Amino acid sequence: MSLLLSTSIDSLTEMALSPTDPNSFSRPDLAVVTHIHLNVKVNFTRKMFEGSVILDVEKKGDTNVLILDVRGLVILSITNIFDGSRLDYCIEKGVDYGSKLSVELPDDPIIDDGKISYKIKIDYRTSQDSTAIQWLNPEQTAGGKHPYLFSQCEAIHARSMLPCQDTPFVKSTYTAEITAPAELNVLMSAIKEKIIDVDKALKIHRFHQPVPIPSYLIAIAAGALVSKQIGPRTRVWTEKELLDKGAYEFEETEKMLKTAEDICGPYVWGVYDLLILPPSFPFGGMENPCLTFVTPTLLAGDRSLANVVAHEISHSWTGNLVTNMNFEHFWLNEGFTVFVERKILGRMYDDKVRHFAALMGVQSLKTALITLGDKNPLTNLVTNLIGIDPDDAFSVVPYEKGHIFLFYLEQLLGGPDVFEPFLRSYLEEFKYKSLSTTQWKEYLFKYFSDKVEVLDKVDWNAWFNEPGLPPVIPKYDTTLAQEYLDLAAKWLADKPISEFSKSDIENWTSNQKEAFLAELVLNNKSLSLDQVKSMSELYRFDSRQNSEIRFNWLRLCLKSRWEEKVSEALDFATSQGRLKFVRPLFQDIYAWEEMRQRAIDVYNEKKYKMMYVTREMVAKDLHILDKNKN
Ligand code: BES
Ligand code: ZN
Repeated sequence: MSLLLSTSIDSLTEMALSPTDPNSFSRPDLAVVTHIHLNVKVNFTRKMFEGSVILDVEKKGDTNVLILDVRGLVILSITNIFDGSRLDYCIEKGVDYGSKLSVELPDDPIIDDGKISYKIKIDYRTSQDSTAIQWLNPEQTAGGKHPYLFSQCEAIHARSMLPCQDTPFVKSTYTAEITAPAELNVLMSAIKEKIIDVDKALKIHRFHQPVPIPSYLIAIAAGALVSKQIGPRTRVWTEKELLDKGAYEFEETEKMLKTAEDICGPYVWGVYDLLILPPSFPFGGMENPCLTFVTPTLLAGDRSLANVVAHEISHSWTGNLVTNMNFEHFWLNEGFTVFVERKILGRMYDDKVRHFAALMGVQSLKTALITLGDKNPLTNLVTNLIGIDPDDAFSVVPYEKGHIFLFYLEQLLGGPDVFEPFLRSYLEEFKYKSLSTTQWKEYLFKYFSDKVEVLDKVDWNAWFNEPGLPPVIPKYDTTLAQEYLDLAAKWLADKPISEFSKSDIENWTSNQKEAFLAELVLNNKSLSLDQVKSMSELYRFDSRQNSEIRFNWLRLCLKSRWEEKVSEALDFATSQGRLKFVRPLFQDIYAWEEMRQRAIDVYNEKKYKMMYVTREMVAKDLHILDKNKN
């Protein structure tokens, strides 16, 4: 039996989790990956990545084993790069969301300047149903001629794309060589170095990411992608069909970047490109470094949804430079990012816009708490994810409770003039690192050591560890919200239809319309079917292109039991894959008993067109237990 199995069988069979991350088996405290070189061929016929990773590993503690996370990968061989000798390894089936790969480290490490390091090569391939990668046939793309693939690794899907220490506690640089069909372009969350022709059919695309990043930020896309420069450091990438629309929608990107730099400090990633994905992309945006991924549902035609870009830009500091150490502290990524996002909007337009967005945030938190239940421990700001897949814990809570918390602290400590310097100092202190909520709190107390009496007024335990609404919700400026709040109240008061007219909302922004509808969706009371039909005639919500308006309008129609709208809602929920829209619509139809079966039938018909996470989450929402797990 191998050295690995004979010496450490006990510790391996315990399947101990990482002491720093309940969702990873890795032990970066013992041996840590410092650089990844990914060398794979994307095989569209087999829907697989085939190739290898070379890992630079540094020994940190008393061990002769490197532990990695894997999910559905086929490991072919593991070797010591220096002499080609084989290394023993074993894989133990772990939890639903991953297994443990233990690799015996070579006994002749490189010792340099007190550092003990190794370089190992793992030959592997992904499985067809890698949860991180979606493979699209040509007919699922805008152009219809070429296949397409994209990845989504956050929170813990990187392990289904490559063997890695799949925890945000670990940050490493990466390089990559991707071999792909010559007619496709390949992009990654990195700087592109060059493209090398292999033969008529294949090209190699080379990348490097010189800034250490967590595994969840490794990203790739390949397809018939073209680009247009929209700023000094920004190109929009997409299939050519959407290029002009995309370039228009995101024209303000450089202005947002400059504003973000003004708030947070210099942008360290060089390039800030945007990639508009096919409709099945499951999120609004994903902050992949150098290359933010966005859903095409942002293309409203009026730039009204560009706040998502401000959000992803903000992650360049909060999340990508300063990172949550595991997903229990996800609010450090997302709460801070929403906070910076809204500061950008406040600076670019007016502080009233920041307050308006904050109010919409409270509205969406309240709406989410209705579904999640306000006693649900997953609605704590800091969650316990032992045995819980972060996908199952995902909600707006860390975003919006996190934002409320930071806004509250900012007011309490003396306003932006006092709090923004703290924000910059925090970013400076923790850049290139990962941290926990406790570390953040300690730093806050250290920074504001002259304001400890003020900080002692905060009910830390309630903020961090209690479910439901937070202990305090600050008073926001309602200037931009008042009109929609008044109009919503008037509809809810059952006023005769003659008191309403299309001019009620004529001069409103898309965001005000969206918030008006969201307010009606949130309210305990439902409008009657007649009221909603009259509203439809007056305000013409059916013909709006804006995806947020469409989403909230459909929810309102379902709430008032407008049967003809069920097909439209199901169409919308399956013609794009954004979880934010897809899940509530399926949940609403599921809750309407007479319509439930239609939702299940449509899901079963369309599920193989969905990306893994959408397919899986909706199955749970529809209580379909036979899961497509791998
Ligand atoms: N990082 C998230 C997306 C994410 C989170 C993917 C967790 C997988 C697991 C991204 O920055 C995000 O928050 N997107 C939002 C944007 C919104 C808050 C403006 C979205 O997709 O809606
Ligand atoms: Zn985010």
